[in-house]
Amino acid sequence: MKKALAFCVLATLAVPLPGSGPYSPVRVNFARDDRYERGRSLFAGEVKMGDGTYCAACHSKNIPLDRKKLQSVQPDLQRKVEDCIHNPDRVNGTAKQSDMEALAYYLAKRYRL
Ligand code: HEC
Repeated sequence: MKKALAFCVLATLAVPLPGSGPYSPVRVNFARDDRYERGRSLFAGEVKMGDGTYCAACHSKNIPLDRKKLQSVQPDLQRKVEDCIHNPDRVNGTAKQSDMEALAYYLAKRYRL
């Protein structure tokens, strides 16, 4: 009798739950943000811009960029980027308009300005 009861309980549990609809995998957006990637690689020095050093060489440890500071200069962000690119003590180089935009875009996105 006990066995029969146990069998009934287990049988009930073993019945598959009614389907909850077709399986739909989580959607991941693989579209790459090329402008962000370009800005990031310029910043990290993977793409060289001048005769001096690259952005991250200064702006990761010694003179870190922070959100507050960047927010306060945001209207001027691209000009600040240009200053650092042209400054002979900094990057000492030139950049295409699109690269300067990419850098500003990267910073704005990274620091959620
Ligand atoms: C040799 C060091 C050096 C390099 C390389 C350099 N910077 Fe700077 N950067 C500075 C200094 C110094 C300041 C001024 C900080 C201040 O005025 O308080 C500054 C300021 C800035 C600012 C304004 C925000 C702030 O804190 O004043 C931005 C944005 C910026 N740099 C971005 C860049 C980018 C992008 C690059 C690469 C293209 C770069 N920097 C390369 C030294 C550097």
